[in-house]
Amino acid sequence: MHNRRRIYEGKAKILFEGPEPGTYIQFFKDNATAFNAKKHAVIDGKGVLNNRISEYIFIQLKRFGLPTHFIKRMNMREQLIRSLEMIPLEVVVRNIVAGSLSKRLGLEEGMTLPRSIIEFYYKKDELDDPIVSEEHITTFGWASPQELEDIISLANRMNDFLSGLFLGVGIKLVDFKIEFGRLWEEEIMCIVVADEFSPDSARLWDITTNKKLDKDLFRQDMGGLIEAYQEVARRLGIINENEIFRAKGPVLVK
Ligand code: TMP
Repeated sequence: MHNRRRIYEGKAKILFEGPEPGTYIQFFKDNATAFNAKKHAVIDGKGVLNNRISEYIFIQLKRFGLPTHFIKRMNMREQLIRSLEMIPLEVVVRNIVAGSLSKRLGLEEGMTLPRSIIEFYYKKDELDDPIVSEEHITTFGWASPQELEDIISLANRMNDFLSGLFLGVGIKLVDFKIEFGRLWEEEIMCIVVADEFSPDSARLWDITTNKKLDKDLFRQDMGGLIEAYQEVARRLGIINENEIFRAKGPVLVK
């Protein structure tokens, strides 16, 4: 790492001050957490893979015409991004029932939803990121009605585009979490896609076997996380057969 000022440290990433005003450096750690960090491990090589996968996805989103915070990848673990005023929401888009949706409503995991669903969670670790409605968001001023409309539109476009992209490499995009921020340019503000897109923050299943290729392998103690993330990277054409990251296996942190 470097001597830059640390702006914020999250569970899987660190934000450092960037080389120019208006920029940050986003550093991908090897830490894996689940259940609001009640479960924690260090998984050798995860940060490197997520940096590469997220870079690839954000470049594709930009090509597709979606505004994002991404500028460029700097090295194995870091990317240069625009600094934003973050909206304190985790936006989850779901195509297939899994995870908390399955638990909350007693639905069988794997059922394809008749239409995709967007959910909002208020980002507040002390409260375990509670689910909130659009009315909570506008009433408490986390986003204005217009901003919320932009967020929903961007999340839907992102879902349509990425569902197709993953289908093309034999993967079902079951669900994903994304965050948004305000980017100010002169007097103009626009809502842009922020955070990351990786198998930490999305559910990805093999199209024929339904094999999980995401962080549920860690959440459910199934093992093989690095191999699964490598598989995603390989299918997307990000790494080739010879580029295998050495993995020691997860180390539990108490
Ligand atoms: P959930 O089913 O546990 O609500 O998760 C939905 C999606 O959001 C799943 O792809 C995992 C992702 N996610 C995060 O990225 N961070 C979180 O803190 C949680 C709870 C879920």
